[in-house]
Amino acid sequence: MAVDNAHLRELVALVSQSVESVLAQYAAAARPVPSLDSTDPSAPLDNRAIREATRVLESACAQLCASVAPPNHILVNMVNPACLRVALTARVAEQLRDGPKPISELAKTSGISADKLGRILRNLATKHCFREVSKDVWANNRLSVCLLPEDTTSGLIGHMTDEMYFGMTSLTDALTDAEWTDSTDKEHAAFTRAHKHNVFEIMTNDAKRGERFPQAMLGWTKLHGGAEVVVQLYPWDSVPANATFCDVGGSVGHVAMALTKAKPHIKAVVQDLPTVVEQAKDVWQKEFPEAVQKQRVQFVPIDFFAGSPVEGCDFYYSRSNTCQYLTSHRHDWPDADCETILKNTRKAMKPGSKVLIHEFILMHAAPEAVSESSEKAPFPLLPNFGVGAQRKYNQDLNMMSAFNSRERTLDDFVAIGAKAGLKLVKTWEAADTTIVELEAAHRRRIAQHTCLLAKRKRFGDLGDGRKKQHELTARRIRRHLEL
Ligand SMILES: C[S@@+](CC[C@H](N)C(=O)[O-])C[C@H]1O[C@@H](n2cnc3c(N)ncnc32)[C@H](O)[C@@H]1O
Repeated sequence: MAVDNAHLRELVALVSQSVESVLAQYAAAARPVPSLDSTDPSAPLDNRAIREATRVLESACAQLCASVAPPNHILVNMVNPACLRVALTARVAEQLRDGPKPISELAKTSGISADKLGRILRNLATKHCFREVSKDVWANNRLSVCLLPEDTTSGLIGHMTDEMYFGMTSLTDALTDAEWTDSTDKEHAAFTRAHKHNVFEIMTNDAKRGERFPQAMLGWTKLHGGAEVVVQLYPWDSVPANATFCDVGGSVGHVAMALTKAKPHIKAVVQDLPTVVEQAKDVWQKEFPEAVQKQRVQFVPIDFFAGSPVEGCDFYYSRSNTCQYLTSHRHDWPDADCETILKNTRKAMKPGSKVLIHEFILMHAAPEAVSESSEKAPFPLLPNFGVGAQRKYNQDLNMMSAFNSRERTLDDFVAIGAKAGLKLVKTWEAADTTIVELEAAHRRRIAQHTCLLAKRKRFGDLGDGRKKQHELTARRIRRHLEL
């Protein structure tokens, strides 16, 4: 029998290639790769090449272990969010800010049993978060410094391991409830079942969680490359002078700010709910006053479900607005909400305007099910990059658990775009996230459809019922495309 272990060697080769590519990036920056013990948050280098190499590395290492280690090891080793939450609540990283401390001291300050806290830290340290420098003496390391309060990752970990984790505990109950299972109403989400309140009620009524939420959102942004990703990814240098970038639902406009700072030939419009736009004005006045003085930025309130953004912009950018972290007034039609936002945007577009949807784009794990236009992982990795892309699949489940909502595939976006009269131009891949570029769909399609209809009628090959159905379809297409 032929023994073919080529796939294992190919995985090892991917591990070494990706590590070499990381080493090359650090060498180019004349910096060493920081050790696991390093607590300097500025030491790790973050750029697109490193993110791409890391995605392959994470995927190949996990696939290698899943291929070789006993399957029950992999299943039983799953991360324990409860330990992270205890460490955060006990403020262990903060206590270790100035150097190592014995468990007795950490326990005294946090009011948690020294024995139990030590066991929690040992569990985390076996996954390389915290370091036991000598018996029962603990120190921060590369991972645990992210739990310091000034790092937005700590807000995200708090949010995930507290209210979101608790929400997830009701996922099975919500999914197996015959009345809830097919619902897309957020009142039927696991989170609501567990907490007896939906996410927005919890964030409004629970001051501590509500205050942490914006930091958690910034933590997500940082996790996926921050505002810089947009600046680096799109060919802004070839865009004409004074092109306008409209950040729709842009919060205080941090993406628009990063772009206009880096590309002075671009102007920005920041659009969000009225209260957020007022905050945006203050933030820009403080962080980028020249743009305000030279009128390189406009602030225009919007309810993107009810109206269109500013007309005639060159780019309409939308990030993280197609999931349900929104104050949508609709409870049960996440796709319809997304379609409404795009239709309203389509109405504002001039010839040549582009829509840039910046989201996690999910891919199927089966090779033949991956969309033609999607970026594929190198063989023998899973085509969707497996564990290297785990965060977006986790986020998809967060959306399911918290809002009965979802992240989407490229085909989903293309289909929703088509309903709003938009067609795919290109995707711009940023390792974790993708910018999907859309433009107005060609009006020729309506003409073609009408012509086909006329031809069929002429040849009388349609019964009355079918004719009526085709006329209705034609009218619907016209309404979608012409708006
Ligand atoms: C998940 S945040 C994304 C913010 C920003 N695009 C980013 O990526 O950081 C969603 C944003 O949509 C805004 N928003 C929610 N409902 C809105 C509405 N009906 N009209 C306009 N903006 C809305 C929120 O205020 C928030 O800033």
